[in-house]
Amino acid sequence: MTRIFSGIKPTGHLTLGNYLGAVRRWVEVDQHRADALFCVVDLHALTVDHDPGRVRRLSRQAATLLLAAGLDPARCTVFVQSHVDEHARLSYLMECTATDGEMRRMIQYKEKAAREQQRGGSVRLSLLTYPALMAADILAYQADEVPVGDDQTQHVELARDLAVRFNQRYGHAFTVPRAVRPQVAARVMDLQDPTSKMGKSHAATAGIVYLLDEPDVIRRKVMRAVTDSGSGVAYEPDTRPGVANLLDILAACTGSSPEELAESYDSYGALKKDTAEAVVEVLRPLRERHGELCADPGQVDRVLREGAERARALARPTVDAAYSAIGLLPAL
Ligand code: TYM
Repeated sequence: MTRIFSGIKPTGHLTLGNYLGAVRRWVEVDQHRADALFCVVDLHALTVDHDPGRVRRLSRQAATLLLAAGLDPARCTVFVQSHVDEHARLSYLMECTATDGEMRRMIQYKEKAAREQQRGGSVRLSLLTYPALMAADILAYQADEVPVGDDQTQHVELARDLAVRFNQRYGHAFTVPRAVRPQVAARVMDLQDPTSKMGKSHAATAGIVYLLDEPDVIRRKVMRAVTDSGSGVAYEPDTRPGVANLLDILAACTGSSPEELAESYDSYGALKKDTAEAVVEVLRPLRERHGELCADPGQVDRVLREGAERARALARPTVDAAYSAIGLLPAL
């Protein structure tokens, strides 16, 4: 059976980008067709300035939201990365397989490091080695497929390269994974700055729809979205990114195509209004279920405990075999 692994990082409240680019597919497709593991990757949240209490709260909230969105623990495994030691164990072997140049070429590293340096801050070493940990996340489970949004495909490519290299050097240890991206909304853009990704750790929040935003807040954010100066509605992502982003969001929420939708609108106002309502309706059941789950924290704890047990049992033999293959003396 196909094995799927994917993760989400608790560095901020989850956004519409996370939902349309990744989580919705996990819920609607992946958990039904494969042996799927979904992980709140809290170790990755320590790669940038962080507040310990906030990371803890966001990790629990992310896990609760994944369940609220419809991940069913009877069908898939939901767990927290730091509960399974194998991620950190294997990450070191990945650092011993990757090169410094490979890590420095990662677009996310370059962008985040440049931003930090501009602010006069320093960059944590773990931000550079982040893709080694991400490769470990994937390879520890022998995952065949990794469903992610556009921004993560370069990291998955690197995980692929590392799997191939490790296997060639030390004998077959890992399945070589591949990234799977959604057909629409693979990159949801910020409503106030449609040339940059809607990201959960951005400081300016007016262009970001969070999964737990109240309906009126969602309406306000969408109605104030920056559009382009052209007239008429057309789907031209390169020249008219604001309108294209709204069309992508509406298409993803309604299951139609952005090109078709463009033909049925002649004003930005009507497009915004329908997009806002579509987003509100897509997120409504999720918000409601989140409220119910918060009232029963024991249920979330149980899911995470059982998820970590299963994940540990799957990852342990793979990581032990990799330790042995690379030349480490097995502990007796
Ligand atoms: P993260 O937490 O930034 O995002 C989680 C998932 O949401 C997708 N995504 C988006 N998709 C479309 N439009 C957007 N604006 C948008 N923003 C985020 C991401 O592509 C991702 O699929 N490094 C990863 C987490 C990770 C991981 C892994 C993923 C760690 N280990 C192993 C897969 C496999 C990250 O930071 O995702």
